[in-house]
Amino acid sequence: MTSATTSPSTPPDPRGRAPLPRLERVGTATRLVVDGEPFVIRGGELGNSSAERSHLAGHWPRLAELGLNTVVAPASWDVVEPAEGRFDWTSVDELVEDARAHGMRLVLLWFGSWKNSMSSYVPGWVKTDVARFPRARDSRGRALEILTPFSAANRDADGRAFAALLAHLREVDEHHVVVLVQVENEIGMIPEARDRTPEADAAFAGPVPTELLAYLADHRDTLAPELAARWTAAGGRSQGTWTDVFGAGPATDELFMAWAFARYVGAVTAAGKAELDLPMYTNAALVRPGTQPGQYPSAGPLPHLIDVWRAGAPALDFIAPDIYFPNFAEWADRYVRGGNPLFVPEALRSVDAAANALYAYGRHAAIGFSPFGIETIEDHAATMLAASYDVVRQLTPLLAEHAGQGTTTGLLPPAEDQRVPHRVPLVDVVLAATYERIAAPSLADGVINEVGDRATDTTRLPAGAIVIRTGPDELVVGGIGVTLTFDPVEAGTETVGILSCEEGRYDDDGGWQHRRWLNGDQTHQGRHVRLEPGRFTIQRVRLYRYR
Ligand code: DGJ
Repeated sequence: MTSATTSPSTPPDPRGRAPLPRLERVGTATRLVVDGEPFVIRGGELGNSSAERSHLAGHWPRLAELGLNTVVAPASWDVVEPAEGRFDWTSVDELVEDARAHGMRLVLLWFGSWKNSMSSYVPGWVKTDVARFPRARDSRGRALEILTPFSAANRDADGRAFAALLAHLREVDEHHVVVLVQVENEIGMIPEARDRTPEADAAFAGPVPTELLAYLADHRDTLAPELAARWTAAGGRSQGTWTDVFGAGPATDELFMAWAFARYVGAVTAAGKAELDLPMYTNAALVRPGTQPGQYPSAGPLPHLIDVWRAGAPALDFIAPDIYFPNFAEWADRYVRGGNPLFVPEALRSVDAAANALYAYGRHAAIGFSPFGIETIEDHAATMLAASYDVVRQLTPLLAEHAGQGTTTGLLPPAEDQRVPHRVPLVDVVLAATYERIAAPSLADGVINEVGDRATDTTRLPAGAIVIRTGPDELVVGGIGVTLTFDPVEAGTETVGILSCEEGRYDDDGGWQHRRWLNGDQTHQGRHVRLEPGRFTIQRVRLYRYR
């Protein structure tokens, strides 16, 4: 993975077209550049079977109303290569044409060898030829409906199809409607952590590859803590079998499989990039707490395995989490370790998506955010997302200017029942935030998900904000249900007051349109800045200091 300095090799387009979408490192952030301009993805992922023209046609206007600028949609191996070497690009071409006609970009999801662990999207000619395209096996020797990553035939067939897709895009997508490509979808071994084919068993009994060991040694100080602890506990060896180096057990089985999947995906990615060098990533289904490898889709690009994926698949530009759990900020924070850019291709389409998006863009300069099943989002979740994306659209020039400078942050309630102000430093001021989530008139759309004692609350409207420090004691604050007071970074020296506070909008040219001053009840007579609950607003705030 090359997240630190991505896509330096963007090739000039052979026919003088606009440069390809690329990733660019600015400060501590990575941003997507499309048609030469920073591009922030306000996305939504379609349901798996919703991307065909005949089904999608009537949904485009609604997607635009939601404020999306990008649709995240699959291209399926079985559909594009119905017979070996014979490609049918109708589905891809229609998607690209229709997206462009509706002013949308696309993130294309390659449903290749794996989709949510399984191999349900591989073509029939692959599925039915188990001898040529072998399956993973469980510890009793039974074949699973999961292609084994220990087969060059599997890898090369997938790689050829993926390369053909990228070669086709090179020919037809002259306007760069496709800005990002996801390679495979939520890879994972289940219901056992380790493949037991003879090839897998032989590899497991053999030495840990030198490439992985060299990577571990070179990145010793920045390894994911879980991996570093396991390696150290087993003696920190620089050679040996998988159990020599990492100890025995399901966690080592998972590490071993992560390496196999990463090598395979890295090869498929490189085959595609050789045809068209678009930014590429792969995504992860996250781990439910308290589960062991094998009980969840194991060995995917999870935070505790990120180093194995980086070492095994350097062609990938980054890895991405599908965040359905309510502790959104914790997962987002784990995915930016080591400089990995944040892109959330799938998120729960509950009312909270509207606030989670603000956190992703404000705190982590996210490349993008995208609730899943966007064409079926309903009621308050839809209203809130559209309003949130409107704030993001207005703030995009400022977000782009400040990305990676340490001058923006995102605010989300750190706990469901947050009793003390949430204190977040931002350069020379400490934001002290309290959150108000008012009741939604009726249940919002979305799957109810639980983590421990925290459940996604779909009965209350969200709270969250983006805060951008535009200058000394100058802030732009956009969001909903957040009240802010301000403290100096060094306590006891001075008091921070509010010099002025105004509500307004940014127009399409980035100019500020004043709407009203907020000096009385709306700021509690100058005591705080308040983004009302239930309504997304943008305020410009000037602070001052007094003793
Ligand atoms: C995660 C997968 O990546 C999606 O394709 C879809 O299956 C959703 N889960 C369904 O919740």
